[in-house]
Amino acid sequence: MWDKLKARAAEVENRPILDLMDQDRAHEFSVEACGLLFDYSKTNLDAETRDMLIAFCDEAGLRDRREAMFEGRRINETEGRAVLHTALRNLDGGPVRIDERDVMPKVMGTLARMEGFARSVREGTFKGRGGPITDVVNIGIGGSDLGPAMATQALAPWHDGPRCHFVSNVDGAHIADILAPLDPETTLVIVASKTFTTVETMTNAETARAWMAEKVRDPAAQFAALSSAQDRTSAFGISETRVFGFEDWVGGRYSMWGPIGLSLMIAIGPRAFRDFLSGAETMDGHFRSSDPIESMPVMLALVGIWHNQGCGYATRAVLPYEQRLARLPAYLQQLEMESNGKRVSMDGEVLPVDSGPVVWGEPGTNGQHAFYQLIHQGTRIVPCEFMVGAQGFEEGLEHQHRLLMANCLAQSEALMRGRDLDAARASLGDRFTGAELERQARHRVFPGNRPSTTLLYERLTPAVLGSIVALYEHRVFVEGVLLGINSFDQWGVELGKELANDLAPVLSGEKDSAGKDASTARLVDWLRASGA
Ligand code: F6P
Repeated sequence: MWDKLKARAAEVENRPILDLMDQDRAHEFSVEACGLLFDYSKTNLDAETRDMLIAFCDEAGLRDRREAMFEGRRINETEGRAVLHTALRNLDGGPVRIDERDVMPKVMGTLARMEGFARSVREGTFKGRGGPITDVVNIGIGGSDLGPAMATQALAPWHDGPRCHFVSNVDGAHIADILAPLDPETTLVIVASKTFTTVETMTNAETARAWMAEKVRDPAAQFAALSSAQDRTSAFGISETRVFGFEDWVGGRYSMWGPIGLSLMIAIGPRAFRDFLSGAETMDGHFRSSDPIESMPVMLALVGIWHNQGCGYATRAVLPYEQRLARLPAYLQQLEMESNGKRVSMDGEVLPVDSGPVVWGEPGTNGQHAFYQLIHQGTRIVPCEFMVGAQGFEEGLEHQHRLLMANCLAQSEALMRGRDLDAARASLGDRFTGAELERQARHRVFPGNRPSTTLLYERLTPAVLGSIVALYEHRVFVEGVLLGINSFDQWGVELGKELANDLAPVLSGEKDSAGKDASTARLVDWLRASGA
């Protein structure tokens, strides 16, 4: 399958996308669903290649695999776990079973408890020592940080609860800077950690507890925990009434729909949080019931497979134009790279093809003044995923939103069209002649024919954000199925964790660097000599 795809990519490599762009293409190479429009007409995909990719989905057993996920079968085979983040947004509460056991009563019960707690914090009936809570600090990392941090920023117009802050880095500067302006007597600390063992999170949680203890006699009374490890949350001293649990079938990077979303729920309120869940639920329904060609997640995935495994483009840029989506690229980096950055297939064999691409990005117009130069004229092709809403929120600044949209659309057009040597010469007018004109013109050539997709939505509401995130989750799932890998484990982060534990006592001087390689030993020596 991969050889066929690569051969097809080589065949059409130099074909101008513009040549494919007849009147029907924009409709035929786009999907509209769940209030979103996904346009992939500005890629080099043609109907024949798309059919080939869709046939791969059948070969890979996508339909069965998709049902296996929704039905709670243990598709995370290396950890023996089901993958049921979709149950967290199954708002009608219909049964979802793992080994005959319906998980929904517990899911709905936890959601109701979260809502009760969020209301009490927002309404001021849950108080800190100094009165109603003014600030919430979520301490977590990876999936226990990126989701709620990204969504809380994205949904700022709905933010009518206490201020929410996010601490993740074990660098003491992060927590120190966040806590410095806060009053411990009116702060709620939420320790978000599925395992409740993650060193960064537990270290920051202890720092926060010590900070609070200076002013608050019983600091644990102003702590809540989001975790699957209730024994550890109790050992930390957090009352069960403020512990919100979830089970091992919720992966860290897929967890913001449940308890890990508590800080977001406190920020925007339970009703808006339910809208967020319902947006994701709508996308789940669309994914589960649509044929590949009409399925937005499947087509987004197939474009990704075409660009990465077919055409060999090693990275993909995610370029949301709205500033409030500034953390979306970081969120998607974890979602996509921790899920599909694998080297062996489900059966342990080395992959015959590259796994997931490097995902990166920044909000649109800022990126235009930073790295778009390389995207337009560099020697490597970077498929771009643009996204923008039709409406902003800022009354009186509609003209700025129009400029934002114009910039977004202009970039994908420019990437596709480019500018040839004649046009470059013409753009110089009569400023140069002869050889100097040629030299100057060459610098102004844009090769064009660079692929991009565009995702449009009406407005960045909680429901729309829910749909967008679920779209990307399912995209990752489909790409993982085609690659034959397990998208739901993350063994690749373990080795570094173990070695960091090993190195901490070497840096503090409790242990020597015996057994370390010469480079690491020298770096340790240098840091110690410099005051570490
Ligand atoms: O980076 C590895 C990882 O396990 C992520 O998958 C997870 O989101 C993160 O660490 C945090 O884990 P926890 O929620 O258990 O603290």
